[in-house]
Amino acid sequence: MRVAIIGTGKVGSAIARGLRGRGHAIGLGARDPQAAEVVALASETDAMPMLPADAAEAADVIILALPWDAAEGAVRALGSLTGKTVIDCMNPLGMIDGALGLTVGHKTSGGEIVQGWLPQAHVVKTLNQVGAEIMARNDHFPLRPVMFMA
Ligand SMILES: NC(=O)c1ccc[n+]([C@@H]2O[C@H](COP(=O)([O-])OP(=O)(O)OC[C@H]3O[C@@H](n4cnc5c(N)ncnc54)[C@H](OP(=O)(O)O)[C@@H]3O)[C@@H](O)[C@H]2O)c1
Repeated sequence: MRVAIIGTGKVGSAIARGLRGRGHAIGLGARDPQAAEVVALASETDAMPMLPADAAEAADVIILALPWDAAEGAVRALGSLTGKTVIDCMNPLGMIDGALGLTVGHKTSGGEIVQGWLPQAHVVKTLNQVGAEIMARNDHFPLRPVMFMA
């Protein structure tokens, strides 16, 4: 499968490492595809560093691993992604009255909002409920772990 990972921070790099060697063609969508850390990650994971819109256009599945406050502009800039599967790993978290909370409140969700930005794509919310280190490797638990999807 052709997979684009948009954002190459903790989550994006963990997913790239998790997908390495599994037969997928991986594009790393980065604002600066020539940045040393992006090039190093691409080399480590046999991926191709690309601009985000180019990576998304070339992919069947697009994985969103962006900070929520940058997400709307960055996601809309990917194009309509018509018919493509979009895996949203983001959490709309921020400080509210001094505590970490959902910046979108409790009557909608980050996944629904992303689907609203991309009405012609198939948005799947998953992976966001675990830490990045578990996204990279989860075969070492005594029991098979659960992953929720919406
Ligand atoms: N870390 C976790 O364990 C974890 C777990 C579950 C869910 N999440 C969620 O996953 C998302 C990513 O978290 P993270 O920890 O991976 O964040 P991070 O380490 O800060 O990485 C964010 C990435 O997004 C890129 N980015 C920022 N603005 C962009 C833009 N406008 N266009 C393209 N790329 C842009 C950054 O690129 P630059 O290097 O160019 O700034 C960076 O590669 C967040 O929504 C977070 O809530 C995180």
